Amino acid sequence: MVPPVPGRPRSHSAGFGRRDLHVWKADLDASPGRLARFEQTLGPDERARIGRLRAEADRRRATASRGLLRHVLSEYAGIPAAELRFAYGPAGKPELTESADGASLYFNTAHSGDVLLVAVGRASLGVDVERVRPIARWERVARRAFSENEMRQIQALPPELRSEAFITCWTRKEACVKAVGEGVWSAFGRFEVSVTPGQPAKVLSVDGAPALAADWSLYHLELVPHFVGALAIRGTGWQLRVSTLRPAEART
Ligand SMILES: CC(C)(COP(=O)(O)OP(=O)(O)OC[C@H]1O[C@@H](n2cnc3c(N)ncnc32)[C@H](O)[C@@H]1OP(=O)(O)O)[C@@H](O)C(=O)NCCC(=O)NCCS
Repeated sequence: MVPPVPGRPRSHSAGFGRRDLHVWKADLDASPGRLARFEQTLGPDERARIGRLRAEADRRRATASRGLLRHVLSEYAGIPAAELRFAYGPAGKPELTESADGASLYFNTAHSGDVLLVAVGRASLGVDVERVRPIARWERVARRAFSENEMRQIQALPPELRSEAFITCWTRKEACVKAVGEGVWSAFGRFEVSVTPGQPAKVLSVDGAPALAADWSLYHLELVPHFVGALAIRGTGWQLRVSTLRPAEART
């Protein structure tokens, strides 16, 4: 488990190493002034997508989410937030098209309620976050989305722990799926993960092969109370740092 420390993503383009993995946690509840500043950095496609959201609260959160994402990435890429360009994979995964020093820079983002996570690394990665809450019909969803082994691990727990274990399993699998840029329903079955609370987060098999799991790193992220997060990336020996983005630092 990696607890967050406060800080800011300051000019990381030079000092961000090949094995570094940074996760930024931010609050999407932004003041009107900050939202206006964030909006100025968005591209026309982002504004159009946000404009199509029906609820004002969703439009505000989406504006803050993309604004904060651009702010964080601009520090790593060495490019002003408004000038960052994204390309999208076949299942919608955004990637940066360039960084100032030409070194590859990967990111992934997830949001739940007012919690935003932005993960940055030098290899393709995936991140997810979910609010922990009681889920009455978790078994119905798990039967479709989880492996028999994952299902058994959750069922073996006392009833009061099963919703949290279900959500933990979901975030771990979704982080893996997002790392490879696929979709939940098309690729959830590819990854089997550890679920039991107190045991380390681990990929147990990939495409049915336990041997392939050794090439994956999976991290359980300790965030704010009542939220659980996960980060997945291929390879081992990463140096993970989790930080909280302070509102005053999130200027654009
Ligand atoms: C990607 C996906 C897992 C996200 O799940 P979610 O719980 O709704 O959202 P999260 O908060 O975890 O993540 C959202 C962020 O993930 C990123 N993202 C989008 N698609 C992604 C993908 N395929 N892989 C990785 N990351 C993706 C985006 O940055 C997005 O942020 P944005 O909303 O600000 O643009 C889910 O929407 C999915 O399965 N999509 C695939 C759809 C598909 O298969 N399309 C095929 C083409 S028809």
